[in-house]
Amino acid sequence: MVTLGLTTLITAGTGVTEDRRETIAVIGTGRVGGALGPRLGALGYPVIYGSRTPGSDRVAALVAGSGEQSRAALPGESVNGADIVILAVPWQAIDATLTGLGALDGKIVIDVTNALRVNEQRMMEMAVATSAAEIIQQRIPGASVVKAFNAVGSHVMADPATGGGPVTIPLAGNDAAAKTRVAALVEELGFESLDVGPLGNARYLEGMAVLYMVPYMSGRTDEAFEYYLRTGTAPKRDFEVRPAE
Ligand SMILES: NC(=O)c1ccc[n+]([C@@H]2O[C@H](COP(=O)([O-])OP(=O)(O)OC[C@H]3O[C@@H](n4cnc5c(N)ncnc54)[C@H](OP(=O)(O)O)[C@@H]3O)[C@@H](O)[C@H]2O)c1
Repeated sequence: MVTLGLTTLITAGTGVTEDRRETIAVIGTGRVGGALGPRLGALGYPVIYGSRTPGSDRVAALVAGSGEQSRAALPGESVNGADIVILAVPWQAIDATLTGLGALDGKIVIDVTNALRVNEQRMMEMAVATSAAEIIQQRIPGASVVKAFNAVGSHVMADPATGGGPVTIPLAGNDAAAKTRVAALVEELGFESLDVGPLGNARYLEGMAVLYMVPYMSGRTDEAFEYYLRTGTAPKRDFEVRPAE
């Protein structure tokens, strides 16, 4: 049973129940991991950082700022006992990272990555025909991948107030229950969530990241923006979608 961040555990044979926050493994200790991890720790989630250098001073400082229950481990170990796994590594590192993490069966995997590259115009462009999220889901079919947080800057993840107003985190995924769970987490972190359909739509969310990066790539950071998607805007009549001819 999962409700708003609390997992009710029934201790085998005793009938004793215990509420606890789910354990969240954050893979990668860079800008995204370093922004989300401390905030999740502050909300009471035990955070386990999956790092290539779990014993480094840098990672120790991150752990120290992430609540009493947090710790760091090598990536493959960090996911043991984790209910939710956040993939916050560069796209170029995802193949090796997934190999190290194993199957992740039964876990919710939040994919923050973007399969992007820099093109000749010094702009970001998609590096794959589908999306990082779909490719990741194929690699870990027993996990429920939810695309989230991929088109918002790490500075806004760390402090949503820097977004200058409401910020929407669109979610794509094939497992409705996993999306509902991630939506609650997104809202606990101070964002609005919006279900934008199946995981196949992650390719459009990764396209939103291409656009998000334009002000940064072109040196016009005064034009940097955040996504806020207002809902309730459909006309008040029956709305028919005609299939494409
Ligand atoms: N930065 C943003 O504002 C932002 C926003 C939305 C989405 N994203 C996406 O989120 C992902 C993480 O971005 P980030 O900005 O946090 O990246 P980052 O600052 O470069 O940090 C990535 C972390 O991944 C780990 N890692 C594992 N294998 C690696 C490898 N081969 N090379 C480098 N690092 C490796 C490292 O942690 P350890 O050294 O502890 O292993 C590293 O600190 C990316 O896919 C990015 O596209 C970023």
